[in-house]
Amino acid sequence: MDIQGSVVLVTGANRGVGAAFVRGLLDRGAAKVYAGARDVASLPPSAAVPVQLDITDVDSVARAAAACTDVTIVINNAGVGLGGSLLEASTAQRARAEMETNYFGTMHVVEAFAPVLGANGGGAIANMLSVLSWYTVPALAGYCASKAATLSLTNAVRAELAGQGTQVLAIHVGAIDTEMGANLPDPKSQPADVVAAALDAVEAGASEVLVDETSLRVRSALSGDLALLYPSVAPSRAVAPPASTTPAAAATAGKPTLDPMSLEASGAFVAAAGLIVDEVTSTSFTGHIEVGSDHHTPWGIVHGGVYATAIESAASIAASDAVRDQGMVAVGLTNTTHFLRSITAGRANVAAEALNQGRTQQLWQVNVRDDAGRLLAHGEVRLQNVAAT
Ligand SMILES: NC(=O)c1ccc[n+]([C@@H]2O[C@H](COP(=O)([O-])OP(=O)(O)OC[C@H]3O[C@@H](n4cnc5c(N)ncnc54)[C@H](OP(=O)(O)O)[C@@H]3O)[C@@H](O)[C@H]2O)c1
Repeated sequence: MDIQGSVVLVTGANRGVGAAFVRGLLDRGAAKVYAGARDVASLPPSAAVPVQLDITDVDSVARAAAACTDVTIVINNAGVGLGGSLLEASTAQRARAEMETNYFGTMHVVEAFAPVLGANGGGAIANMLSVLSWYTVPALAGYCASKAATLSLTNAVRAELAGQGTQVLAIHVGAIDTEMGANLPDPKSQPADVVAAALDAVEAGASEVLVDETSLRVRSALSGDLALLYPSVAPSRAVAPPASTTPAAAATAGKPTLDPMSLEASGAFVAAAGLIVDEVTSTSFTGHIEVGSDHHTPWGIVHGGVYATAIESAASIAASDAVRDQGMVAVGLTNTTHFLRSITAGRANVAAEALNQGRTQQLWQVNVRDDAGRLLAHGEVRLQNVAAT
């Protein structure tokens, strides 16, 4: 969906990310931008067309939809974050207010503007979600619930409006440098960078954009153990199979103790991948692979198996080191590797850290980065400590 020549409604356009959306859209050649605000007098001067819009007020939303019949893109940006943990007084009141704006308000706008978009050829809806749509912070529990609900709404709307050709984009990001993000810890994205990533994603026809590293990491942890997101949870309390029945444990039974620092001992397979061990401690691992054409798929990029091997090996070498004094080794139970960026050649730096080291199991996370520090792959490996007989 081209931004150039489009007609866009931005909700909550008077400040923060919304104001940055207005600027970004005009810079990219949008034919018209409707700047929605509860109080139009609070809108900064711009070439945008002011529209009174309180997304919690169905009449206000209906008036806006009746006035803006040429809209081809809707940016659902307006939101509130009122904070407060579940244990504080008046939490339910704040949580309801957050749900009223972030979830029901977005729903009102989608309902009112879906027919407008349909009449104009399908168009696009972009919803400002958050990394907190997937991950809950106790101090922001109500806000997180409202963003999770809005993610659910976004997925429903995408399916429902596919028939009329409407692209529906979920924008995920960690903290942003705005009034709402003022009390959040660094790192924070700049509103203009969030907008640039979101508009690139609209133009690419994407359904989801992960704006920053925080959202990348949380998204990739979703398929892993719950303890990856919530360290107070012991890893896989409920699902650990007995050591004797796991394929990895069965394969290792009766094998000699491995010297975790020795690539030869770790096997020709790991050596073939080219993993060089730089440093191992009982809680960390660093190493690297010089990747090149030997590691390529037929399509000329580094094979995902190289990353999966590096991640598995890094975790098991260091986890085994951690239990070596007890006469044990650590063998992998699960490896969830996410391939985040493709490269053709260069150094892939492998860094692993222990997230949880229990008596019987360990949980490690591993990042593979290029020399510029960009994340190429991320993985979590859960391992069973077994006797090295
Ligand atoms: N800041 C962060 O760290 C962060 C991180 C991830 C996602 N987000 C999301 O990004 C979006 C923009 O946030 P921001 O950081 O720009 O926040 P912000 O600086 O607090 O701005 C919020 C905007 O939403 C508007 N708004 C609130 N309730 C409204 C309603 N009922 N009807 C219409 N407009 C309403 C506000 O208008 P008024 O001036 O009238 O209050 C303001 O323009 C939100 O959806 C937020 O949840 C923010």
